[in-house]
Amino acid sequence: MSKSPHHGASVIPMSAVRSRALSGRLRVPGDKSISHRALLIGALTVGRTEIEGMLEGEDVIATANAVRAMGASVTREGDGRWRVNGLGVGTLLPPRDVLDFGNAGTGSRLTMGVVAGHPFEAVFDGDASLRKRPMRRILDPLMLMGAETVEQAEGGRLPLRLRGAREVIPIVYETPVASAQIKSAVLLCGLCADGETTVIEKEATRDHTERMLAHFGAKISSEPHGAHGRKVVLRGRPELQPQKIVVPSDISSAAFPMVAALVVPGSDVVLENVLLNPLRAGLIETLREMGASIEEVSRRDDAGEAIADLRVRHSELKGVDVPAHRAPSMIDEYIVLAVAASFAKGDTRMRGLSELRVKESDRLAATADGLRVNGVDCETLGDDLLVGGRGHVAGGGTVKTHMDHRLAMAFLVMGLASEKPVVVDDGAFIATSFPAFIETMKKLGAGISA
Ligand code: S3P
Repeated sequence: MSKSPHHGASVIPMSAVRSRALSGRLRVPGDKSISHRALLIGALTVGRTEIEGMLEGEDVIATANAVRAMGASVTREGDGRWRVNGLGVGTLLPPRDVLDFGNAGTGSRLTMGVVAGHPFEAVFDGDASLRKRPMRRILDPLMLMGAETVEQAEGGRLPLRLRGAREVIPIVYETPVASAQIKSAVLLCGLCADGETTVIEKEATRDHTERMLAHFGAKISSEPHGAHGRKVVLRGRPELQPQKIVVPSDISSAAFPMVAALVVPGSDVVLENVLLNPLRAGLIETLREMGASIEEVSRRDDAGEAIADLRVRHSELKGVDVPAHRAPSMIDEYIVLAVAASFAKGDTRMRGLSELRVKESDRLAATADGLRVNGVDCETLGDDLLVGGRGHVAGGGTVKTHMDHRLAMAFLVMGLASEKPVVVDDGAFIATSFPAFIETMKKLGAGISA
């Protein structure tokens, strides 16, 4: 082990070898998007909110710390539930220290929305990956609502000091890119406005903020807009009521054992309690088009979200064309989809992936590099990724993970079915979203080691 120049923690190289059939039942950790929102909205509620099944990954813990720094109490109980005792809408307190979000884009951006609605300043910072990510897209609408960036690194990046609005201005905002983080930051700030805040999106993105705000008692409506978009209207200054939240399993984490089961011959795996919100389930739709056997064993509803156990069996996959308008519903799943496409027969073209360039890493470039180094034909054409599947993968490469948890997990999945092992240079960031990834995969029979 050596010290990473990026994050000061240890670098953990990992490898995966060709494995026998994967089998068993597993429950991947709680949904990251819902966990961040439960903490932040709980903090804006007077009284005790209980969160069951919260993701205890580094990203969400950073948000818990930020919420604490703004005066809410956040505790983990003996039974694994988390409790948030909030202060109410517009009544959080100024944090004394820097809010350090580590690797967490969602936590930092949603918290910017919350801070922008309060008449105080907060300093936001993060690791080398987060410091590279664009923040102007969040700050622009928040400025229109009356907030100010007092200091910022070049290009509106972290570290930055944000001064919240004295009087929040309700706005009508059309998001320039399909991003649930932009939409959510505007809505969280809009909670503190005297009037209606409207967000219009051309392509609908995950709607957990809207659903959760409604669940906590806010007046919020969402209606179709254009061919693929939504118009969301929120009435400001609601009195949010504390709630019990049960966090379903994260489909973006389930994606890894799901693709592993599809590509490792003979596999038969059940993934329990997976969130199937239609604005998150684009990967399942795409894999089914490729010929994947993914069966919903039991479908139910929990706190307004659709959930099911999924039985996934090894399948012969074929290449497909993935339309650009599907991207928001599977934006975090393209790396692992590219791995599935490598084992498929025929070409897969994934269209409209410009947003992949500004994730935890430049995922478009890094995915293409990872595929090539393992002998997979691929090409980037503008914003599209083309993968030439041959039904089998050579492997034998070392993949650069660029501080990106999903690159590490996706390429470890590749190694479970490739001819030679696949090595990832650093799996330490897996702890941001799926801390028990290795143990969980090993229980299914996967040959992964650190
Ligand atoms: C998220 C939104 C998406 C996604 C991220 C989580 C959220 O980002 O990539 O992992 O919880 O709102 P964008 O809003 O940038 O599309």
